[in-house]
Amino acid sequence: DAHGPFHAASQAQPNIALIKYWGKRDAALNLPVVGSISITLDSLWTRTQVRFTPEQTYDRVSLNGRSDEAEAKRVTACLNLLRERAGVAWGADVASQNNFPTAAGLASSASGFAALVHAGANALNLQLSDAELSVLARRCSGSAARSIFGGYVEWAHGQRADGTDSVATPLLDADAWPLRVAVAITSTAAKQIGSSEGMNRTARTSPYQSAWIDTQEADLATARDAIHARDFDALALISEHSCLKMHALAMASQPGLLYWNGATMECMHRVRALRQQGVPVFFTVDAGPQVKAVCAPSAIEQVKAALRDVPGVLDVHDTGLGAGVRAIAKDA
Ligand code: PMV
Repeated sequence: DAHGPFHAASQAQPNIALIKYWGKRDAALNLPVVGSISITLDSLWTRTQVRFTPEQTYDRVSLNGRSDEAEAKRVTACLNLLRERAGVAWGADVASQNNFPTAAGLASSASGFAALVHAGANALNLQLSDAELSVLARRCSGSAARSIFGGYVEWAHGQRADGTDSVATPLLDADAWPLRVAVAITSTAAKQIGSSEGMNRTARTSPYQSAWIDTQEADLATARDAIHARDFDALALISEHSCLKMHALAMASQPGLLYWNGATMECMHRVRALRQQGVPVFFTVDAGPQVKAVCAPSAIEQVKAALRDVPGVLDVHDTGLGAGVRAIAKDA
């Protein structure tokens, strides 16, 4: 309906990188220095409603029922990209809900901005391809580019200066290899150093930056092959390698970035001990203290029990792999 009501709602899920993104070649456009590969989750979600009003001059943003100045600025910057495309200056009411803790290393910005771009584009009746949505989501939050798609996803580094080719594409559907993920929560405090600031510090001061960039293509190729062959052991080894390499890179910054607490480390040891006993599981950790343990479906109960047992673990969530961003009923 080209004449309104300029209202839409969408759901997106967070994704977890197995081959990590760390570093920007263009901070304004959120262009990465390396490609990355992720899995999109299913039971953690963001649901976002967007309603544009032609006579309104500002945006009103609520997150989990509360207004948040810092997030509202990012939402407005993101909606500006859509308003530019549509040639309108209308303000919007945005209401977004997460069913998991925000800003604690669980990639709420990935699901949040994927859902916002999708709902906003629908509300303005913009007919955008998934690739165009991925580029727009990337500009709002890098890793959001990947939450446009479900299952196993690769986000390309891209060659162009304008970033139109730094876009995510699906590698394999979730159903084709339905791994599961246990997320061990070791702290609910908001993180102190966000990923953009951390990446910036790393690029300026870490002596390992060039080694990180030089070795990424080979890691991406290994992970891509492992995913296409459904080779769990190969994916486990390359994913833990990418995670530890990213953290080593960040730790070598000045001052060094330490995203882990003691329980984070204990969980990593516990996952490795399980794997040594033959349990198909591996860990990954992002710019925060939570540990994500990726495992075969048959191992999920054992992995959850083992992580719950680690001193300092507050809670363990359990999720499968899910679909990409999609429209949902308004007022859902
Ligand atoms: O795009 P951001 O700001 O959410 O940064 C993501 C950085 C990591 O989570 C550490 C790695 C990744 O690829 O998701």
